[in-house]
Amino acid sequence: MNSTSQPFNRISHRYRLINKIISFGLDSIWRREAIRSVHLSGGMRLLDIGSGPGELLDLTHSNVIKIGIDPEIRMLQQASNNFIGIRGVGEKLPIRSASIDRVVSAFVLRNLRDRESVFDEITRVLVNGGKGALIDFSPPGTRMLGYPVYIYIKYILPLIGGILASDFEAYKYLSRTILAFPQPEVIRLELINANLKNVRARRLMGGVTVLYTFESHIDV
Ligand SMILES: C[S@@+](CC[C@H](N)C(=O)[O-])C[C@H]1O[C@@H](n2cnc3c(N)ncnc32)[C@H](O)[C@@H]1O
Repeated sequence: MNSTSQPFNRISHRYRLINKIISFGLDSIWRREAIRSVHLSGGMRLLDIGSGPGELLDLTHSNVIKIGIDPEIRMLQQASNNFIGIRGVGEKLPIRSASIDRVVSAFVLRNLRDRESVFDEITRVLVNGGKGALIDFSPPGTRMLGYPVYIYIKYILPLIGGILASDFEAYKYLSRTILAFPQPEVIRLELINANLKNVRARRLMGGVTVLYTFESHIDV
């Protein structure tokens, strides 16, 4: 569970505020879209992989059973008491098979050492007919805004984030991992390989964030 190559413990105290600033407030819109896409209803068990302080879970109804998993204890400590926080990693979820109705995750995919294992774990823990939504940044596409967005991610984001968090390494890490991340179609195929169904990838407002949605198989 050693994740010292990742900076989340160091910036945890200002994490939420900096997210708002560097994304121009769009991060809340992206998170809401992820939650909306899984069609939650009362009594469902919802798992957030890499929940951090629980920004996604905070957007859901109170009558959902919310579980957040994250390896970084300080990220979990910033959370409201709104969910069950468990220290752990997505590659080996401490969760019973076929026990989760909905899986969500925001801005975690880029940080995973082994995406394939995480996607297999999602398939394992989802109930038949369960749904999931993952969001993360993706290198900008080739459309009109692609180049300015690239300049923002490569040069401006590490500078602004670095100044706000007093941690330039953390925001260079963010910039580097966004630009090195595979294009949405690659991730879509990986989800299909994990035996997930109806897998879709869609760029959200701003173009730099992608929403991946899927369902688990349905046994008849
Ligand atoms: C950019 S933060 C996102 C936090 C939160 N999901 C949000 O929406 O703000 C990435 C989170 O992924 C967690 N993380 C890193 N590696 C992980 C892994 N292998 N499994 C699960 N979570 C991981 C980090 O500790 C961190 O809290």
